[in-house]
Amino acid sequence: MSRPTILLLSGPNLNLLGERDPRHYGTATLDTLVGLARQCADRHGYELEHLQSNHEGDLIDAIQRARGRCAGIVINAGAFTHYAWGIHDALAAFDGPVIELHLSNPYAREPWRHVSVVAPVAVGTIAGFKDDGYVLAIEAMVRMLGR
Ligand code: DQA
Repeated sequence: MSRPTILLLSGPNLNLLGERDPRHYGTATLDTLVGLARQCADRHGYELEHLQSNHEGDLIDAIQRARGRCAGIVINAGAFTHYAWGIHDALAAFDGPVIELHLSNPYAREPWRHVSVVAPVAVGTIAGFKDDGYVLAIEAMVRMLGR
């Protein structure tokens, strides 16, 4: 029997992790974080599919393709979090749980980061744990799906 799939999405500029503002985002590269997230999913009997894109439409296409196929979505939408209503609408049309993820804590930063269009369609948010965030979000998703 094939294993259920968790879709992990990383939005704009997250391909620069490792070089970008380590004070907020830690020092690990995205490849490292996704590798750890995949190991965690695997340990719990899930497949992990990951996409990073700097383009809103690519993320929307991936969310639409997950409908009826993926068990849940973990999304770090980067700056799209704060204004991309197309991503909100695509997530709202997804049939499984959504977890919002941030490496930094947006609520402790500039006021424009305090608004999230992902939060209203998410079961919860993992934020502020830097390099640990990706694994913590997968752990949270596994618990959510196991209920
Ligand atoms: C981020 C927080 C966003 O405000 C920011 O635009 C990012 C990364 C985070 O992971 O902390 O690109 O989503």
